[in-house]
Amino acid sequence: MLSLIALSGLIASAVAVEPFWNEPDTGLETYLHSTNWTEGTQPLLKDMRGIPDFDFAARQSLDGQKYSFYRTANAGEWSYRNNLEIWSKVHFRTRHLTDVTKVNQTLATTILGYNFSAPVFISPAARGAYGDPDRAELNFVEASAKENTLYTAALYASKTIEEIAAAKSNDTLNGPQVLFQQIYTNANLSVTWDIIDRAEKAGAKAFVWTIDAPATSVRHRAARYDTTNANAVTSALTWDIYDQIKNHTKLPIIPKGITTVEDALLAIEKGAKAIYISNHGARQLDHSPSPLEIAYEIYRNAPEVFTKVEVLADSGVRYGSDVLKLLALGVKAVGLGRPFMYANCFGLEGVTKAIQILKSEIAADAAQAGIQDIQKIPTSILNLRALEPTVFLQEGTKVTGSL
Ligand SMILES: Cc1cc2nc3c(=O)[nH]c(=O)nc-3n(C[C@H](O)[C@H](O)[C@H](O)COP(=O)(O)O)c2cc1C
Repeated sequence: MLSLIALSGLIASAVAVEPFWNEPDTGLETYLHSTNWTEGTQPLLKDMRGIPDFDFAARQSLDGQKYSFYRTANAGEWSYRNNLEIWSKVHFRTRHLTDVTKVNQTLATTILGYNFSAPVFISPAARGAYGDPDRAELNFVEASAKENTLYTAALYASKTIEEIAAAKSNDTLNGPQVLFQQIYTNANLSVTWDIIDRAEKAGAKAFVWTIDAPATSVRHRAARYDTTNANAVTSALTWDIYDQIKNHTKLPIIPKGITTVEDALLAIEKGAKAIYISNHGARQLDHSPSPLEIAYEIYRNAPEVFTKVEVLADSGVRYGSDVLKLLALGVKAVGLGRPFMYANCFGLEGVTKAIQILKSEIAADAAQAGIQDIQKIPTSILNLRALEPTVFLQEGTKVTGSL
């Protein structure tokens, strides 16, 4: 007869929930303990092998207040966890024996007509000086120039728009460096016009207009240190303001924070050339969907969105394979926020290494997945059935069992 203890053990394991890993255990700590690394100090850059390693490293070197500002998410952080975990629901359907020897040469892409070496970019994130007090966002500009990738500067960057522009390179592999500028709008639009004018003068090539921060956000982890949101004021956000911005600038305006097919379609109707799907790294609203779920909702209801406009995406991307999954659904380029803020604790070399890790993972994983051309990944490379039961379907959209 089973003893009570054995029985309760069996029940516990039957209902056991996998623990959440902020960074999956791939041996970093075990390895560091075998070296002369001291807990609570920054490890060596050479020991950063994957993007999540930078989170671990930043937690060692930043004080609690600064790390919490970078790491925080909304409320119970369920969306934060979902952003990181959702990827494992969608498996690859690798076709073997396809010739993938030239896949490395297909990493380069364009975003709004500008050439870049890879479909990854640095998302706009405030307060770069927490990671590198002197150089702050200048490392993002210079690393992006070196690697020929896109950097989207945040309105609430530690450096001014002009300081960031002054750090641009005039001769990347594709000519003068291209930067996009993120903006928030608040009730006093004259402030916005001033920012737009300054960014245009500084040479920004597009505006990323953040639409998912209409109010201050509940962030307990940061609040413990009395740290407020970068954007603590209530923003003025309507499609009418989109029209007003459009009347004020000739540059493309990319709405950032699209989470539904309806808003994606509205943005197209309004004339957007690109949209940006994101839940702001789960920093705004708990239980908002991950970019994989958003991209899938759009793919199932209105796949034409991906050809009518360029779709950018971010939130929870940590591996080359995450990028490939979004690209396979039609996304054009993928951003990362926190990982670059953490990598900035190592300065320019850290940010550069993070971009390089992503590029090599994308190319290696593409080859492993039998992808020949990273710019033309067939959606059939993904088994998406796990997303189907919960996807929102508009009236008339077919439920399908054969994806
Ligand atoms: C520290 C920090 C500050 C951020 N500041 C802004 C901001 O000022 N404007 C904005 O649109 N998004 C901001 N974001 C959101 C990022 O642009 C991006 O959507 C998010 O970080 C992506 O998720 P990830 O961190 O999991 O990669 C910020 C994110 C972080 C981590």
